[in-house]
Amino acid sequence: MRTQVGIVGAGPAGLLLAHLLHRRGIDTVVLERQSREHVERRIRAGVLEQGTVDLLTAVGLADRLRRERMIHRGLEVLFDGVGHRIPLAELTGRELTIYGQHELVKDLVAARLDTGRPLLFEAPAVGCADLDSSAPVVHFELDGAARLLECDLIAGCDGFHGVCRPAVPQSVLTEFHRDYPYAWLGILAEAPPSSEELIYAQHERGFALHSMRTPKITRLYLQVTPDEDIAAWPDERIWAELRTRLARHDPAWQLADGPVLDKAVTALRSVVTEPMQFGRLFLAGDSAHIVPATGAKGLNLAVADVAVLATAIEDWYATGSTQLLGAYSRTCLTRVWRVQHFSWWMTSMLHKAPDGDPFTARLQRAALRQLAGSEAAARAFAENYVGLPLTGGPNDSP
Ligand code: FAD
Ligand code: PHB
Repeated sequence: MRTQVGIVGAGPAGLLLAHLLHRRGIDTVVLERQSREHVERRIRAGVLEQGTVDLLTAVGLADRLRRERMIHRGLEVLFDGVGHRIPLAELTGRELTIYGQHELVKDLVAARLDTGRPLLFEAPAVGCADLDSSAPVVHFELDGAARLLECDLIAGCDGFHGVCRPAVPQSVLTEFHRDYPYAWLGILAEAPPSSEELIYAQHERGFALHSMRTPKITRLYLQVTPDEDIAAWPDERIWAELRTRLARHDPAWQLADGPVLDKAVTALRSVVTEPMQFGRLFLAGDSAHIVPATGAKGLNLAVADVAVLATAIEDWYATGSTQLLGAYSRTCLTRVWRVQHFSWWMTSMLHKAPDGDPFTARLQRAALRQLAGSEAAARAFAENYVGLPLTGGPNDSP
């Protein structure tokens, strides 16, 4: 097989890149290891920045999203049993969209299939080669047979456990990472949200988050240990712990519960790979960087990467200049590190240290009080949480 841009991975990054390039008349083949059912059912992110939604709208991908989404104009930070609202829209003029990542993936898959261009499910890439030549290739499998995809460029959109990043010689890449001594136990429940907005709760027993997907479906998370055995968490224990950590002095507030539809433990980690390019391979989304979920940024960062990449690829085909492609990594990394800092900071402020260190707990309390009591602090938080505007150019390079 031959195409202009070989895209490995049909997550949000790969599917959106395929769509952006198709609109610009550039041919792509998308290879996905999993089945269509699997990628359309994978429960993950839910918070979309306005910049993400604006881009999806501009390229005709947001019709169902705009009909079914929930719009949020603020969020609550809960500590010492009292909730403090941060009026995000008032402070920044920007709002957030709540829409499940798997719903977005369904929309992206449908848009791709409409174009008639190849999106191959159950077609795992097993490696990339000749990356520093002008004819890179992706080796993949289809129906059990070994196949080859010849390309001008390869987009490695294959997530954290993909094959593209490991195809780069180790001496080229530097990996910066931080593991946290905690993880999230997340559930999706058939229960109406108990609050109109997200609640980020700091509690002496650990962090908890109340989020949602629709007026009938709640998404809830609990801080647990990274090696937590999910079998030790029957539904009743999860609800009891959520009720404790989300409790407030106001006795009128109750957490609605209901059947648990999905349950999983997710590690929290920060990873950045530099540079995000080697020869004709460009890494985008989780294949290049991971943020802890506390800042709700991973999906939005993946979208920001491919917005930059699509513009650079279009410019390269149109002009032959490598200026924008050459700036891709630098352009993206500016945003990536801003978001890394914010996600690390928010994670550090809200999670209980495993040793229960009282000094850390006092520092967290001081940071939360400042956030709740200072408009300047709330504004800085809000600017980060709602997200930087998207760019397609190299002008925000360091
Ligand atoms: P992925 O979605 O991981 O897609 C990569 C794709 O590549 C997958 O479909 C995979 O099957 C495929 N693949 C892998 N290897 C191969 C191979 N060898 N060959 C072919 N295909 C391959 N982000 C937010 O912005 N907001 C949130 O609220 C948020 N909450 C989150 C909550 C949880 C519990 C989790 C786990 C994540 C959350 N995130 C959030 C992060 C977000 O889900 C990810 O950052 C996002 O999925 C990244 O998209 P991606 O396309 O880069 O990678
Ligand atoms: C979610 O709804 O899944 C969600 C919300 C906020 C986060 C992380 C995940 O910070």
